[in-house]
Amino acid sequence: MNEAIRPSPESPPQAAVTPELSVIVPTFNERDNVTTLFRRLEATLAGVAWEVIFVDDNSPDGTWDVVRALARQDSRVRCVRRIGRRGLSGACIEGILASSAPCAAVIDADLQHDETQLPRMLALLEAGEADLVIGSRYVEGGSADSFNKQRADASALATELAQRVLRVKVADPMSGFFMIRRDRFEQLAPQLSTQGFKILLDVVATARGELRVKEIPYTFGSRLHGESKLDSMVALDFLGLVLAKLTNDTVSLRFLLFALVGSTGLFVHLAALFVALELFNVPFPHAQASGAFLAMTSNFILNNFLTYRDQRLKGVAILRGLLLFYLVCSVGLVANVGVAFSVYDQEPIWWLAGAAGALMGVVWNYAMSGLFVWRKR
Ligand code: GDD
Ligand code: MN
Repeated sequence: MNEAIRPSPESPPQAAVTPELSVIVPTFNERDNVTTLFRRLEATLAGVAWEVIFVDDNSPDGTWDVVRALARQDSRVRCVRRIGRRGLSGACIEGILASSAPCAAVIDADLQHDETQLPRMLALLEAGEADLVIGSRYVEGGSADSFNKQRADASALATELAQRVLRVKVADPMSGFFMIRRDRFEQLAPQLSTQGFKILLDVVATARGELRVKEIPYTFGSRLHGESKLDSMVALDFLGLVLAKLTNDTVSLRFLLFALVGSTGLFVHLAALFVALELFNVPFPHAQASGAFLAMTSNFILNNFLTYRDQRLKGVAILRGLLLFYLVCSVGLVANVGVAFSVYDQEPIWWLAGAAGALMGVVWNYAMSGLFVWRKR
């Protein structure tokens, strides 16, 4: 393709006004939806100086390519293409921080949110009546009829939990549709979690009542094209966020999952030992070694699927990761035994020494796995 780098002289002149509103659209495999959304924004935001920033996580369907084409025709459209990263919350944060408009809205690409509410949300922010306006399914006049029963129950449960545990006084903290003053957002941004998908809940919980919030009703519609990216694993993300906010970010769900997986490894080890000794009459040292290998292997597989599912290793990277994991765990074992010995030396209490060693082992394995096995690219 031979594209002109300079716009041709007959291309329409574009106003050089700074936008008052930036609309952030996180996308993953939404190529059939983005153009429609752009047209609808254009219709509903006539009279507003606006821009739209699509934040695409390198969608395999080439959504970013469609967005780039739109952007070449209209300078109000921008595209942030992120490579090697996945995550709805992180995408929204980056999009908002990439804008310099005083107000930023977040809206899904699949047209399930009602973009015609945007002017009203903007008016509320600009009148100084709120710092944050939420498109809410759970206030009078709003609804989520397109949800199936299971999804509706899950949503209600998560909402209830968030309200009680995090003392969030918002009817729909799980909404993915909101508008916020960018200066307020920038204050909170360093404390927000980039993992998971509950960006609004994170914002509200992190602000601890310091934000003036308004909710306006809207009807959550059906998806136009494509499919939802939220799988059953989002429940884990949600719990992780609640845990992190409750403990001021000291306990991470990743560490808890890693430790949990580690404890399943103990069972694998003992089971393998039993089978090898009792059923196959393998000599003890061999049985013990194969038990350890099996446990490390199953730990690796579980961690790859659960603990690090957002950075899951695939293809040949699995083999490399597994070998590194063996290495990390072997050193962890030496550290474990070393610590247990020295504690036992000072204070011959077997369970205290054992627990100290095990803790040392899991902390080491966790820290080193994060550095070498599932390192961020
Ligand atoms: N950049 C990026 N990266 N975008 C993503 C990712 C990701 O990893 N995952 C999802 N998205 C985009 C989708 O392309 C879509 O535009 C939007 O985020 C919402 O994702 P859906 O997959 O359509 O989610 P949903 O419809 O099931 O969930 C919606 O409703 C929930 C309320 O029940 C979302 O609005 C949630 O934020 C909301 O909590
Ligand atoms: Mn959706």
